[in-house]
Amino acid sequence: MAELQEVQITEEKPLLPGQMPEAAKIHCVETPYGSVTFTVYGTPKPKRPAILTYHDVGLNYKSCFQPLFQFGDMQEIIQNFVRVHVDAPGMEEGAPVFPLGYQYPSLDQLADMIPCVLQYLNFSTVIGVGVGAGAYILSRYALTGLTSSIPEMILGHLFSQEELSGNSELIQKYRNIITHAPNLDNIELYWNSYNNRRDLNFERGGDITLKCPVMLVVGDQAPHEDAVVECNSKLDPTQTSFLKMADSGGQPQLTQPGKLTEAFKYFLQGMGYMASSCMTRLSRSRTASLTSAASIDGNRSRSRTLSQSSESGTLSSGPPGHTMEVSC
Ligand code: BEZ
Repeated sequence: MAELQEVQITEEKPLLPGQMPEAAKIHCVETPYGSVTFTVYGTPKPKRPAILTYHDVGLNYKSCFQPLFQFGDMQEIIQNFVRVHVDAPGMEEGAPVFPLGYQYPSLDQLADMIPCVLQYLNFSTVIGVGVGAGAYILSRYALTGLTSSIPEMILGHLFSQEELSGNSELIQKYRNIITHAPNLDNIELYWNSYNNRRDLNFERGGDITLKCPVMLVVGDQAPHEDAVVECNSKLDPTQTSFLKMADSGGQPQLTQPGKLTEAFKYFLQGMGYMASSCMTRLSRSRTASLTSAASIDGNRSRSRTLSQSSESGTLSSGPPGHTMEVSC
């Protein structure tokens, strides 16, 4: 009986005669993590995403993808797309060896370089093709920012989804400011640093917590409301006033400056910095109840717990707990 044998077949279907590989354009952009080189084949096709590749370790875009992208049958696919082949730093052909001690970017940082490439090319959507480490990098990128441009990601940080979909004049104004900012590149650097922030590691009662008076403010419909609530839970309650503003989104200083001003006055007053003559008439009358509570408590700075009801329009001192809920 004939024995079955495994035979390794390498598919050979190179470009047809007369089919010339398209000219490649090599680019290099600076990113917060160093420069990155990428090679573009083809021209952008209106309303079509680009194909973006990222190679595996030990390879570069050519050694990883040339056999696939120059395969005969592949041509009818790729001719419909512009291709952007990213080389990980130092992997491009002819790359110099990095100096001793050079800190190679983490995979997360490599992923964070991708928006710089896309912004440089002015591409907003891509079809990612990654192998091994490259697949990880593209997945990381897809988790954070594939579908959104940098301005939209920043707007999603600043405002809640409800606010964004409401598209009020304020949202239109800030979308316009950010999208057309002449320093958008700088904004992106700040954005990248923010996304690479370290945890503050606050611990209530632990060594790492704020020892100074703190007023924490968050809109009850803010995109990061949970994070601020959690932060409050890690701060010293005797030093912290927590103000959750009702019917307020991500930027209460823009949407509710009056309420915030009032809360700020109380905060400053709690530290002894606001003479009551500086308070508005309304605030003065409200402050009376707070001050008397403070004196009962015997500690002004520990008595910044306020609640305000929309029905009565009054502010009254509450039990120690330092939470202000301000309703509209
Ligand atoms: C391309 O056509 O996209 C391509 C050509 C050569 C190597 C890799 C990709």
